[in-house]
Amino acid sequence: MAESNAFVRFEGVVAGYGGGDVIKGVSFDVPQGGVTCIVGPNGSGKSTLLKTVSGLVRPRLGQIWFKGTPLVGKSPKEILKLGIVQVPQNHSLFREMTVEENVELGAFLLRDRKVIAERMDTIREMFPIVAERAKDKAGSLSGGQQRLVEFARCLMLEPELVVLDEPSMGLDPKTLHAMFATIKMMNNMGRTVLLVEQNARQALKMSHFGVVLENGQVRLSGTGTDVLNNPEIGALYLGGTIEAKPSH
Ligand SMILES: Nc1ncnc2c1ncn2[C@@H]1O[C@H](COP(=O)(O)OP(=O)(O)OP(=O)(O)O)[C@@H](O)[C@H]1O
Ligand SMILES: [Mg+2]
Repeated sequence: MAESNAFVRFEGVVAGYGGGDVIKGVSFDVPQGGVTCIVGPNGSGKSTLLKTVSGLVRPRLGQIWFKGTPLVGKSPKEILKLGIVQVPQNHSLFREMTVEENVELGAFLLRDRKVIAERMDTIREMFPIVAERAKDKAGSLSGGQQRLVEFARCLMLEPELVVLDEPSMGLDPKTLHAMFATIKMMNNMGRTVLLVEQNARQALKMSHFGVVLENGQVRLSGTGTDVLNNPEIGALYLGGTIEAKPSH
């Protein structure tokens, strides 16, 4: 297999859990500096695909390249060290620990206390809630607030690639807006974002690149706008964009 110049390249990835393949030959590129959004129905393999990037699921076939480095076979920790951080679909804060302690955990690979302190300062500026609720138990925060703290924690390593699995899950419309704005902010800071979203229309609008995954395969990929405007995809996943045709 040839090395790739792409920032992230999925090349013929086949993966599953032993009971058959869930990802059935997936190939696409994630451009550097952008937001790439994967959409698709429940059970189509979106979370599984993200887990192949972070090393939690090992592909049976194919390769994933990160700036020319093959990721398949690397441990989650090695992948983290390369600059790829994933925020999982389910809430992942330690509820009994404080907000500040949770964010500091994001720096567990770092040794230099000064660097950690500087990054904490930056994070407090970016995420006021980290300062305001520093000493509160993470479990006392609302779902949306916990999401923001999870983002804050993942940025402590200053990752090049941020992988987000359905960050909008369970959030009310107002929090949803803040959450999407935060993703934009992370991207504007130079982080490349790869995310999965059920809130497909809103997510694709802010994405540079979109991928539709269906039954473990790429059904369509293109710019966010291409995917949004594809009539078939719109009808299937975005609540209908096909103009109603007269019945006679
Ligand atoms: N740990 C696991 N062990 C066995 N099978 C699994 C495991 N996790 C997921 N699966 C199966 O793999 C398939 C794809 O699941 P996956 O979670 O990747 O889909 P998804 O697109 O993220 O769905 P959702 O939109 O519900 O989050 C499903 O059939 C699911 O039952
Ligand atoms: Mg999922």
